[in-house]
Amino acid sequence: MLSSVLLKASRSPLARRAVTAIPVTRKVVDRFVAGENQAAAIAAVRALKAQGLYATLDHLGEDTTDAAQAAAIRDSYVALLGRLSAEGLADVAEVSVKLSALGQALPGGEQLAQDNAHAICEAAAAAGTTVTLDMEDHTTIDSTLRILKVLREDFPWVGTVLQSMLHRTEQDCRDLAYPGSRVRLVKGAYAEPASVAHQDKPEVDAAYERCLEILMAGGGYPMVASHDSRMIRAGRGAASAHGRTASDHEFQMLYGIRQDEQLKAARAGERMRVYIPFGTDWYGYFMRRLAERPANVAFFLRALVGR
Ligand code: FDA
Repeated sequence: MLSSVLLKASRSPLARRAVTAIPVTRKVVDRFVAGENQAAAIAAVRALKAQGLYATLDHLGEDTTDAAQAAAIRDSYVALLGRLSAEGLADVAEVSVKLSALGQALPGGEQLAQDNAHAICEAAAAAGTTVTLDMEDHTTIDSTLRILKVLREDFPWVGTVLQSMLHRTEQDCRDLAYPGSRVRLVKGAYAEPASVAHQDKPEVDAAYERCLEILMAGGGYPMVASHDSRMIRAGRGAASAHGRTASDHEFQMLYGIRQDEQLKAARAGERMRVYIPFGTDWYGYFMRRLAERPANVAFFLRALVGR
């Protein structure tokens, strides 16, 4: 109930104005967001690299309302990739991109988002790293998978995200479990109707395990993105059952969540990548993190009342 209210609020301009106007919100946001600019994001990558962790960088932004804003986000990613290369960090850091930030929802937006993503992929190729397309709500999936297909013709290393909460995802996993494919498997962070998505956690979890099995049995590079110990154990089990080694799959978590587990995995020789969001447009991302965990709401409320 609380979670669905927060997810609705994550898309409400009125709630956005109210939440971002509260002075202490910023302090709470810092727990989940590395900083407002590229320098902060690069510093976070450097700190993770020193601990044996990998990174994927997300320039926060979504639901872009005009082409100029989409071009500005594209240019920021291109500049960021140049910096990663210049600072010797492209071996441990890639970028994650939301196509809605690149104009996907505008009229004619699929082509626009594809062109912008293509420019980002060119910069990633020059830097020697990769790009993964984030997955947004279910209405965008067919468009995102079409763009993925086109991008992969020129950049066969482009990856994407699939969400186990959706009924369609097991089939999408089968379609994308081929050699060279990179799939980041998540549970899904958006409020989705029962017509397209499992509504209960046990069903989402069971679907996650079935998807893991398909991806680990296939020929691609599975990225197990979850903080849930059960899913991580299932990922390890499926990887070993299918004879995978530490270099042909990886685990991923979000910045600021379960850092102890991130380090433990890296120390045990697993590849653990941390998803680092940065930038000023943190509202939607922050609200989805609150929705995932009531304890985060309590943390926020305590900060509000100064305790
Ligand atoms: P679950 O929510 O069941 O949590 C299991 C446990 O993890 C909790 O009990 C708690 O201990 C811990 N935990 C989880 N969330 C927490 C939080 N916010 N704060 C503190 N502790 C928390 N989604 C999407 O729809 N599209 C996308 O493109 C992506 N991309 C993405 C990339 C990466 C690298 C990750 C890790 C996640 C995403 N997600 C996403 C988000 C994903 O769909 C999902 O909402 C979150 O990962 C939470 O689900 P868990 O699998 O962690 O399990």
